[in-house]
Amino acid sequence: MSDTLDTLLSESRHFPPSAEFTSSARVSDPDIYDQALADSLAYWEGWAKKLDWFEPWQEVLHWELPHAQWFVGGKLNACYNCVDRHVVQGRGDRVAIVWEGEPGDVQTITYAELQKSVAQIANALKQLGVRKGDRVCIYMPMVPELAMTMLACARMGAAHSVVFGGFSAESLQERTNDAQAKVIVTADGGWRRGGIVPLKAITDQALRLGCPSVQHVLMLERAGPEGTWTQGLATPSYDRGEWVEGRDVAWREIVPTQSTECPCEPMDSEDLLFILYTSGSTGKPKGIVHTTGGYLTGVYATTQWVFDLQDSDLFWCTADCGWVTGHSYVVYGPLANAAKILMYEGAPDTPSKDRFWKIIEKHQVTILYTAPTAIRTFMKWGEEWPQGCNLSSLRLLGSVGEPINPEAWIWYHENIGRGRCPIVDTWWQTETGHIMISPLPGITTTKPGSATRPFPGIEAVIVDEQGVDLSTQHLAEVRAGTATGDCGGILAIKRPWPGMLRGIFGDPERYKATYWSRFDGMYFPGDGAKLDSEGYFWLLGRVDDIMLVAGHNISTMEVESALVDHPAVAEAAVIGKQDAIKGQGIAAFVIIKADVESQDGLVEELRKHVAAKIGAIARPDVIYLCADLPKTRSGKIMRRLLRDVAEGRALGDTTTLADASVVASLKEQYESLEG
Ligand code: WT7
Repeated sequence: MSDTLDTLLSESRHFPPSAEFTSSARVSDPDIYDQALADSLAYWEGWAKKLDWFEPWQEVLHWELPHAQWFVGGKLNACYNCVDRHVVQGRGDRVAIVWEGEPGDVQTITYAELQKSVAQIANALKQLGVRKGDRVCIYMPMVPELAMTMLACARMGAAHSVVFGGFSAESLQERTNDAQAKVIVTADGGWRRGGIVPLKAITDQALRLGCPSVQHVLMLERAGPEGTWTQGLATPSYDRGEWVEGRDVAWREIVPTQSTECPCEPMDSEDLLFILYTSGSTGKPKGIVHTTGGYLTGVYATTQWVFDLQDSDLFWCTADCGWVTGHSYVVYGPLANAAKILMYEGAPDTPSKDRFWKIIEKHQVTILYTAPTAIRTFMKWGEEWPQGCNLSSLRLLGSVGEPINPEAWIWYHENIGRGRCPIVDTWWQTETGHIMISPLPGITTTKPGSATRPFPGIEAVIVDEQGVDLSTQHLAEVRAGTATGDCGGILAIKRPWPGMLRGIFGDPERYKATYWSRFDGMYFPGDGAKLDSEGYFWLLGRVDDIMLVAGHNISTMEVESALVDHPAVAEAAVIGKQDAIKGQGIAAFVIIKADVESQDGLVEELRKHVAAKIGAIARPDVIYLCADLPKTRSGKIMRRLLRDVAEGRALGDTTTLADASVVASLKEQYESLEG
């Protein structure tokens, strides 16, 4: 029933921009699309010229598939562009960051203050032995110092690898070692749901597991000792870890004492800016490599146009800096535009379920960029929460991370945007660096559930399994007004774009195999998509075995490895199962070893085990203990059939199974459990 409703909604409802919005919008001329594609190099070069370069480039693009170099030979510094140039241009008193901690503490930081703090952190990193070209791992709560540390790395020419504070010690260890980080910057803890996430203790644990490249741990005091919190709440007790003399360094001791002068290192356009790990289907996370000039150009352009960024805006992207969204739309894109950003440390339901709306009301946020999984959670909590707050400062809403179902889109539009605010549904990936498909709010008529069309300069196509282009003809028909029906298939990107990943850290073969081998000469993002009869793109989710849980990529293999790591488990198969809130939830089918005597409490224990190994985000929602798994003759688990079982569908094609009775009995067992 709701499926039918969604489809009806998506096909029939159109939301054109208001004349008022268009009249003052950054982009109001639809010709920009044709102009950008007619000479995309000149177009991107135009954007790059809006950044400050120490030395100009000789060539806009050097492209030897699959390796792109943008703005070849140019020299710039990302931190200079995000901080110093605004100060130099006399905008040092402008607010850069408005930050709110979970307990309610607030900090406001101007660009001039940001410059000084970032310089001090960069100098402290230098004192700890970090040099241009090194990697620094950042494992911090969402405090201003997190963004500042990223900028400090960029300032001195070290690459950062931010590891989300919700990840476990083992995940931190794996990422630290892969990047060969010299220093880990962390905090004693960060606030989450009224408690403290003990980041330093988890870092200690990662180091005990073995991180041979790490020479120092720099620890910010955010949580402080128990009972020290002064603004009404005492800091709850938490594991403060250990202090290893020589290795561990207190932020308080070495950062504030540094000079507030630190030159911005001139970096080559293609020098590494950061590595960010994303899950891969083989289980080992991929260190996605982003470089300086192209990435900064792409995030600068997309922030300005997609969000129609104006001087008066207060921009709140709710993502944690541990994800790419936080890199591109909390830090680099907005700050390169001299924007005022809002950062919030904690959970959306602490102390109550209207925390986001209270924040918007209090600080007068004008642009909100969040994820469908959050929107669905707000829907579940009920509209009375936003209704109790004044949200009239908002003028634009954004969505990212997974397809937004029309129902959630409409709820967001009505209850948060109060019918006034355009919604930009933005499709992109860790790998793409910046937004690739999205409305431009001053010109695009939106449709709930559709990311609409590629950003100017981006050429996206839909191809079939063999890579045959299906969309060019379809789009010609759309233009001619003769298109009927949809054109469905697999998304591919045709020309290089400035923010594209430059590789997988330390694994060039995997880079080529994952993204450039599926289709000849085109980038393969791994998503299904369709074009409708009006030429709108609809993103349909992953075509491979990566789950998208609450907007985050988690590989089935990673969770399986964690389960099998438990002594009672013989074998495990993990699938993403439709989930009304998270998009996908995690379901695991587990075979217990024959000698395990009691299964009492085992399911709970396994869920905990996965959370400890990978992080709470990967904790399976359901675990079915079973006798066998459906496999092909070559021994490959057929997850497709498990999805059919878990989602209560009729079984698909079972002819390639080694033993068809296995899945039949699983289905029976599952139905008796659910029934
Ligand atoms: C995958 C990338 C981009 C930052 C957050 C996730 C899915 C993302 C949308 C959207 C439909 C979307 C895709 C994509 N996705 N945004 N607006 N509509 N799907 O980054 O972890 O690299 O995941 O998220 O499947 O491939 P990521």
